[in-house]
Amino acid sequence: MKFLRILLLFVCFSAFSQQGGMWIPSLLEGMNEKEMKSLGMKMTAKDIYDVNNSSMKDAVPHFNNGCTSEVISPKGLILTNHHCGYGQIQSHSTVENDYLEKGFWAMSLSEELANPGMVVTFIVKIEDVTSKVLENTQTISNEADKQKKIQENISALTNSLPKESWQENRIRTFYDGNQYIWFVVETFKDIRLVGAPPSSIGKFGSDTDNWVWPRHTGDFALFRIYADKNNRPAAYSSENVPYTPKHYFPVSTSGVQENDFTMVFGYPGRTQEYLPAVAVEQIVNDLNPAKIEIRDVALKIQDGFMRKDKAIKIQYAAKFASVANYWKKWIGENKGLIKSNAIQIKKDFEKDFMNKVAKAGKQNEYGNLLSEFETNYKAIAPYALSRDYFMEVVMRNTELLSFGYRLYQLEQLYNLRGEQAFNDRKTNLLMGFEELYKDFNATVDEKVMEQLIEMYATKSPKELLPQELLNQDLKAKTAEIFKTSKLSSYNGLKEMLSGDAKTAVATMNQDSGYLFVKMLADAYNKNVAPKFDEINLKNTALQRTYMKGILELSPKEARIFPDANSTLRVTYGKVKGYAPADAVYYSPVTYLEGVMEKYIPGDYEFDVSPKLIELYNAKDYGPYGENGKMPVNFIGTNHTTGGNSGSPAIDAHGNLIGLNFDRVWEGTMSDIYYDPEICRNIMVDVRYILFVIDKYANANHLIDEMTLVTPKKNKKKSKK
Ligand code: ARG
Ligand code: ASP
Repeated sequence: MKFLRILLLFVCFSAFSQQGGMWIPSLLEGMNEKEMKSLGMKMTAKDIYDVNNSSMKDAVPHFNNGCTSEVISPKGLILTNHHCGYGQIQSHSTVENDYLEKGFWAMSLSEELANPGMVVTFIVKIEDVTSKVLENTQTISNEADKQKKIQENISALTNSLPKESWQENRIRTFYDGNQYIWFVVETFKDIRLVGAPPSSIGKFGSDTDNWVWPRHTGDFALFRIYADKNNRPAAYSSENVPYTPKHYFPVSTSGVQENDFTMVFGYPGRTQEYLPAVAVEQIVNDLNPAKIEIRDVALKIQDGFMRKDKAIKIQYAAKFASVANYWKKWIGENKGLIKSNAIQIKKDFEKDFMNKVAKAGKQNEYGNLLSEFETNYKAIAPYALSRDYFMEVVMRNTELLSFGYRLYQLEQLYNLRGEQAFNDRKTNLLMGFEELYKDFNATVDEKVMEQLIEMYATKSPKELLPQELLNQDLKAKTAEIFKTSKLSSYNGLKEMLSGDAKTAVATMNQDSGYLFVKMLADAYNKNVAPKFDEINLKNTALQRTYMKGILELSPKEARIFPDANSTLRVTYGKVKGYAPADAVYYSPVTYLEGVMEKYIPGDYEFDVSPKLIELYNAKDYGPYGENGKMPVNFIGTNHTTGGNSGSPAIDAHGNLIGLNFDRVWEGTMSDIYYDPEICRNIMVDVRYILFVIDKYANANHLIDEMTLVTPKKNKKKSKK
């Protein structure tokens, strides 16, 4: 019995396990430095983050608010993933000049391509402001009022905290509202495309290999930050000059071995590691399956068109990749959550938590938490499902409906704030729409709508749908909309919005497509959103209390890291293989041999370019190969998530050894439950990147900008 208890405790404890975690760079000294050193790190926490001196954080900008990038030369050259720069590479491509297919290399500064609207953001300073944000809020008992006051405090602080004129203050919450941190940031707006390999390297394996190990993808692209004459952020100008960074990464050509220390530094987007079991159950049983099914249908239709038509393939490339990416992730996530027994492990953790609550005499504060979670998640179930259907069908996967939804918001804005607000938004919308319609194909979208709207009507909770939707021939309705609605072309849309606000709104309200969206959106806003928001707010408050309890009652050794929130984090671990199934072991490094094994001539996912085959046959790897082989990708135990793509993988000394871009299939559930046995991040070996730049693209001038180093390895020490 006692043994069982101890075993159970051990299992519970490992629910928030001994490895994994995404840590705040300014707090490493107290929380992680010792452990990082025990894993082999030779730097100090100050080398990673220092407010007063240049440190590694000065070389890791957020890339266009989604991915991560790193500075690798004194001339502002930055490295990120091919899939992170994909939209930009696509936007410069045409059927005649397809940089997605052929790659792009600027052979001089003047050939680098501007990307209006694109930004990268550096972190200047990180400071805790919890007590200031929570001032005069503790006594407010109504949750909505409390949140309102917190938001007011945040705005006041954002306006008043000291910063330079070209900088910006941002305040973000950590631990679900238990901690608030202030960031001073600098955003650069002139970012130019420097180089990208062809998709046959940068996207080798495409969607079949996405989220999969063993992997063989050269998923990288190069950009350059431009600044004004004072090295400050400035809008695009031909007068701008390459940015001089405070720090840039030396690039190591020494390579990696199993058990080497690695650290990944970047901007993980969102994790939910501390959800109660009942919430995870809902994701696994209801929400993920619904979203997967919807995307399944949309993707199959688009894929059919893309395979037949080259122009459609370019138009849909980025959209398709992004929809396919999470479709596949949710499938893997569900499998992983089931296989790792995550729900039971969370339930055991909750039992243990309640025991601790009782022991500490804190029933008043935490005693009802879990039963309230149960009640709320049960109550929110139909609304959450409806919401996901609306998001996926209307906002995400049927473009005509998503365009219509933006106009619906425009009409609401007019009703609320009048003519001026309407006109401002309209100008912005038209600019955005011009880009969106370039990649819009009405024939494809009509087929998508025809099927998705049918699913929406039959599978989403009926009582929450507009009754009109249930009583019509949706196939005929779809055909009618695509035939008559002005939403099906950019010119039509422009025409619909012409004239003053009143005229435009009147025209909109005679359009078949617009009226259809309005019916869906009105019903959603009336039947779903208010109830969802109401229960969700309660869950947010409960989650904050639960998190507070976990922090208070966990043993000192427990590693309670804050969930990802798109802020700069450090995660660390080792280069390591894993065993995904009985009798199967995956080693941690792949080589060019594997590219050739997967090679399918002419296939759109697994074709290999003649030049690469030539280099492979000649074993012409320059100084980048290792014992006659060219390493391509490797994996490690770093805990990463979406947003970490493009993050630098760093060795024990602070040199760049790789470029993070993905996770392994068996471990995609790590956003909800991190299992150190099978969760691995996937990185491109930086030597493969150098090889492609140098030997494949002959862009040696870029290598010349970098600082290559060859640190010696202390083999005995790095093996643990
Ligand atoms: N799975 C990776 C990440 O989540 C890479 C996605 C890009 N590749 C793709 N085939 N869609 O972003
Ligand atoms: N591929 C992801 C990204 O784009 C990284 C991940 O989810 O592991 O950020």
